[in-house]
Amino acid sequence: MNKFRTFDPCTMLSPVPVVMVSCKGVEAEAKPNIITIAWAGTVNSQPPMVSVSVRKERYSHKLIKDSGEFVVNLVDENLCKACDYCGVKSGRDVDKFAEMQLDAMPALGLEYAPAVAQAPAYLSCKVRQVIELGSHDMFLGEVVGVQVRDDLFDPDGSLHMESAKLVTYNHGVYQRTVDVLGFFGYSVARPEVLERRMGTYHK
Ligand SMILES: Cc1cc2nc3c(=O)[nH]c(=O)nc-3n(C[C@H](O)[C@H](O)[C@H](O)COP(=O)(O)O)c2cc1C
Repeated sequence: MNKFRTFDPCTMLSPVPVVMVSCKGVEAEAKPNIITIAWAGTVNSQPPMVSVSVRKERYSHKLIKDSGEFVVNLVDENLCKACDYCGVKSGRDVDKFAEMQLDAMPALGLEYAPAVAQAPAYLSCKVRQVIELGSHDMFLGEVVGVQVRDDLFDPDGSLHMESAKLVTYNHGVYQRTVDVLGFFGYSVARPEVLERRMGTYHK
């Protein structure tokens, strides 16, 4: 039997995705900003929807609320440091795009929020609902556009997200996602399917 230690009720769910959420105010002179978010998730398939939970006091909160838009940028190993920086500095004080030498590019389907050009993939989102949960407001966003970097596709058109070197957040640390252990349904796949499929994943 394992021995366990007891915690007070807390957000122990691990690992979780960590994403860079880009946003922009609606004023003509508004500058784009990035906030690092670990409280993010997929919440619906049809229509595709994701959630990001943002504390009211974050500079980005107002930008997302006012514009009704945000972009979820996936984080790879190259972006990990910038991701951390965007999670410890506020857009009130610094231009995070400039400081981290990131480029803002138009995001598919959105008017205000830009995407981070260096991200391996991004999801353009329009806010459909804001739910006040307590410490955080959860923005439910409908995904209205998606782009994935071209080099993550095989010549046959198949997407290899497993080779994107994405980063996860695991109880306070950023962690690599590297080896493929299996695929959806592999526990019940026939041996020949298992062997064929497992040979197709990039290292
Ligand atoms: C790994 C990591 C995860 C974070 N997750 C969240 C989150 O889910 N929600 C949130 O409101 N702040 C989160 N933060 C804190 C904000 O990213 C941070 O306060 C940031 O400086 C806010 O930027 P802004 O003031 O420009 O909006 C996280 C920070 C880090 C480093």
